[in-house]
Amino acid sequence: MPDSTSSTLIQRLLSPSARSDVPPFMVMDVMAAAARIEAAGGHVVHLEVGQPAEPAPKTAIAAAHAALDSMRIDYTAALGIPSLRERIARHYRDAYACEVDPERIIVTTGSSGGFILAFLAMFEPGDRVAVTVPGYPPYRHILTALGCEPVLIETTGDDRHALSPEALLAAHRKKRLNGVLVASPANPTGTMMTGTALRALIGVAEGEGIRFISDEIYHGLDYAFPAVTAASLSPHALIINSFSKYFCMTGWRVGWIVAPETLVRPIERLQQNLSISVPTLSQFAAAAAFDGRDEMEAVKRGYEENRRILIEGLPKAGLDKFLPADGAFYLYADVSKFTDDSLAFTRKMLEEAHVAATSGVDFDPIHGRSFVRFSYARSAADMKEAVARITRWLAR
Ligand SMILES: Cc1ncc(COP(=O)(O)O)c(C=O)c1O
Repeated sequence: MPDSTSSTLIQRLLSPSARSDVPPFMVMDVMAAAARIEAAGGHVVHLEVGQPAEPAPKTAIAAAHAALDSMRIDYTAALGIPSLRERIARHYRDAYACEVDPERIIVTTGSSGGFILAFLAMFEPGDRVAVTVPGYPPYRHILTALGCEPVLIETTGDDRHALSPEALLAAHRKKRLNGVLVASPANPTGTMMTGTALRALIGVAEGEGIRFISDEIYHGLDYAFPAVTAASLSPHALIINSFSKYFCMTGWRVGWIVAPETLVRPIERLQQNLSISVPTLSQFAAAAAFDGRDEMEAVKRGYEENRRILIEGLPKAGLDKFLPADGAFYLYADVSKFTDDSLAFTRKMLEEAHVAATSGVDFDPIHGRSFVRFSYARSAADMKEAVARITRWLAR
């Protein structure tokens, strides 16, 4: 038996840091439970996973093959290969008629790598950064791990569940904010901010000295109205984007930042030290992905059809309360008429109807128990099957 001094010593050697004590992503547990059902021969319809079912554009895959065959896969410049940075700048011109200097573009390891670089470059430990709830959980968890304080602001239907200037100012008046992060289209809600609303929010934030971060990972997947980039609204905003969603390249781990000029060199230094550079093969593939837009537009039309099937089908099953599904591939449904515990509800739906979806508790520590997120990134046949199973299950 170790004595108390040595057990304290061992504890000191083995205990994880307090900052690493971030919550898990519960959707992973749903996926594991679904895998167990499938291993036992069951057929699960997957509406839990937030990733496209389709592969990367053919142009991207061909570029990766060509790079493998023709060159050494070395480190690249920390800011990314010049051809990709230039191609991303051209994308801003083509998609938004917005001029962005390629020098302001930093290639990152997915948008996830972008958050770490951006938060480190923008904030000090203890800084307070506003995020909306419901919202993508890693925003809060990365900020916490970096010693910053995520400040949760609830959104309401009056503003399409987007953060309003009034709500931001109210939080700021209570206690000073250093930053704010918004996503449009958003995860888990799929709701979007209009250009006017985004402009007003950025104006108010910057007027108060609150740094503005725009997560634009779901741009391109907009159905209600075209998404507006914060890059066209302020040279001081920091934009984070990714090839994961519109370009169906989750596993390639490549994204980008459009940074205010003053942050480019600090982010470059951070990237040099934290990861040297982003995977080279993925950068070549990403540059070619822009030539595969026709293929990706066809994928997007598939999501639109899926969205229609859910918007029409779920109310017939009794799930008739959901937030505006403007973009991305999510529908966030209020299930409070069936349960006050959406975690138990989704577990039961998986076990009994073999439909996997994600409880709102992942996204919203306040009201998440009343909500379920359905992802419609798979096939139309899957959506129809899911609606049929949910209808039967809720009517049982
Ligand atoms: C809103 C949002 N931002 C960022 C990410 C991270 O994506 P990635 O690191 O693959 O670019 C996700 C992934 O689901 C997301 O939903």
